[in-house]
Amino acid sequence: MFINHKKDNMLRKVVLIYVLLAGTLVYGQKFDGLALTPPMGWNSWNKFGCDVSEKLIKEIADAIVSSGMKDAGYEYVVIDDCWQVDRDENGNIVPDPERFPNGMKHVVDYVHSLGLKFGIYSDAGTKTCQGRPGSRGYEFQDARTYAAWGVDYVKYDWCHTSTQNAKASYTLMRDAIHKAGRPIVFSICEWGLSKPWTWAKDVGHLWRTTDDIMDCWDCVDERNNAGFTVLLDRVVGLESYSGPGHWNDPDMLEVGNSGLTVSESRAHFSLWCILASPLMAGNDLRDMTAETKEILMNKEAIAVDQDSLGKTGVKVRDDGDLEVWVKQLADGSRGVVLFNRGLTSEKMTVKWTEMGYPPYLKALVRDLWQHKDMGKFKDEYSAEVPSHDAVMLRVTPL
Ligand code: GLA
Repeated sequence: MFINHKKDNMLRKVVLIYVLLAGTLVYGQKFDGLALTPPMGWNSWNKFGCDVSEKLIKEIADAIVSSGMKDAGYEYVVIDDCWQVDRDENGNIVPDPERFPNGMKHVVDYVHSLGLKFGIYSDAGTKTCQGRPGSRGYEFQDARTYAAWGVDYVKYDWCHTSTQNAKASYTLMRDAIHKAGRPIVFSICEWGLSKPWTWAKDVGHLWRTTDDIMDCWDCVDERNNAGFTVLLDRVVGLESYSGPGHWNDPDMLEVGNSGLTVSESRAHFSLWCILASPLMAGNDLRDMTAETKEILMNKEAIAVDQDSLGKTGVKVRDDGDLEVWVKQLADGSRGVVLFNRGLTSEKMTVKWTEMGYPPYLKALVRDLWQHKDMGKFKDEYSAEVPSHDAVMLRVTPL
């Protein structure tokens, strides 16, 4: 038979391109349109570590609603490490039967019944950081399980990954999630090791920039986990990588835990909002002081974090212990944080030129912790900032 090799090759090429394209459409993407503003919610790790259970998650979900956190925008209830104990004979992941006696779907349904969303945790390696079964080799099966349970958010850690390549491993899980067919926010947690900001925009919706946050002002442990001021220094320069649908994640909040004073917690929250950081509360929401509630539910600060433009704030001045941070907002106004790391109260100033405004521009200055308009100003604005505290402002041109 006469074979037209040219035609045959052409046909092969066309088929190959078609298969690749179809593959890209089916697998090669993350769920778009999710996390257009930084995700907000609660995660069990900072406060509870491995002490997670159906009872805890239900009580926390109740507290998100009754405390007003839900109204303030907190949406995802995320169970971190230790919910899983094994795989069954078919390879399906098994939740701890003592701590989750009714299985995971039951917990997810409960969270959903309150109008909240549910998140879960796994790991790209063979085991999670606490030695529970990881997802390596089970990516598609686990993603299917999560989708069947109704999971809305997956945090995917990086322990026990040996020589695995981060981009390939996270892309594999992204594809598995996409194939499973349920829109799920994909939270990459490899601590910034392979600079995920350079490759993860189309892989996940947020990526940890840095090691774990610790419940302190500026401590650092032997693994480089650190207090929020240290993490803040480490994310300088990454601003432009973050935006709607793909966020830098300097880690969860420590507001309401025992290691920070009220003023330090206020500074931590102000700065996380200026950074357009995901706002994942990490405290016991069933038992919050009035100060903790006031900080976590400051809707004016949250509005700066959640601004639709999705810009990350920039440190525009660094005078040693005194820093000025500015975030451009969708309506042309600016979020500003005056941050005092020093041991004495200081008068601090932000100049209009540091916000990209001409000096003659008349602007309204609102103090977002006092919830008060401070007046109309030109050229600059000054405020007294107590030690280890922050003043947060919104400056709106008139
Ligand atoms: C890693 C992550 C943390 C937390 C723990 C759980 O350290 O970075 O956020 O998930 O694992 O073991």
